[in-house]
Amino acid sequence: MMKKLLLLGDIHANYPALKTILRHIDPDRFDWIINTGDFTVYSTFPNETIQWFRERKKTICILGNTDRRILKILKGKKLKKPKREEKRVMYYWTSQNLHPKNGSYLESLPKQTDFTLDHIRIGVFHGTFYNPNEELFPSSPESRFYHLSKDSPYQIHIMGHSHVPYYKIVNGVHFINPGSVGRMFDGDPRASYAILTLSSGKISVEHFRAPYPVEEAVKSLKKNRLPDIYATMLRTGKKLN
Ligand SMILES: [Fe+2]
Repeated sequence: MMKKLLLLGDIHANYPALKTILRHIDPDRFDWIINTGDFTVYSTFPNETIQWFRERKKTICILGNTDRRILKILKGKKLKKPKREEKRVMYYWTSQNLHPKNGSYLESLPKQTDFTLDHIRIGVFHGTFYNPNEELFPSSPESRFYHLSKDSPYQIHIMGHSHVPYYKIVNGVHFINPGSVGRMFDGDPRASYAILTLSSGKISVEHFRAPYPVEEAVKSLKKNRLPDIYATMLRTGKKLN
């Protein structure tokens, strides 16, 4: 039987972007919704974002590096990264504004997970199988993907973290990054996501970009008196630097 999975990741508290994707596609038509982590930080809607996943059945979610840092702050630990004060502001704002129920939800999530569907073993990672902070791009050396494929018990790796969408098949292993819902780095601010279809052992992947109301996210940043660098990041679809 055919199974359809909606692949999301790196939402970064950008609920206007998430909402737009959910309006474009009907989330009820998917067998599973996967989230590769980084629910939080750099937009002002961590509660709305987490709550959407909390209240939904048939989701498979993991933590990203920004979520792990938020949990650290909530436990009273000091942040080592990011170094730049303007970037740290968003971590402190998020931890102060996060509803305790949403903090507990993050606390309950693993760093990586796996499942079997249609007899296919699928791994979900923020970075890679070996390292949740490793960034892989379509331009990363083929040897790196080969190395990951060699030791992998999974036929499909669903990954996030680099915010760059790709789909590669190396040594029979499928590597999929849906791109970032709420914080693209390629100069195109549109929200990115992917759909994975499994049909009698056949694997297919489609990537999509959806324009969303960027100004809705910017307005909320301004209302909360957060640094302008975040508004520029969303408007230009580029990394903070
Ligand atoms: Fe991210």
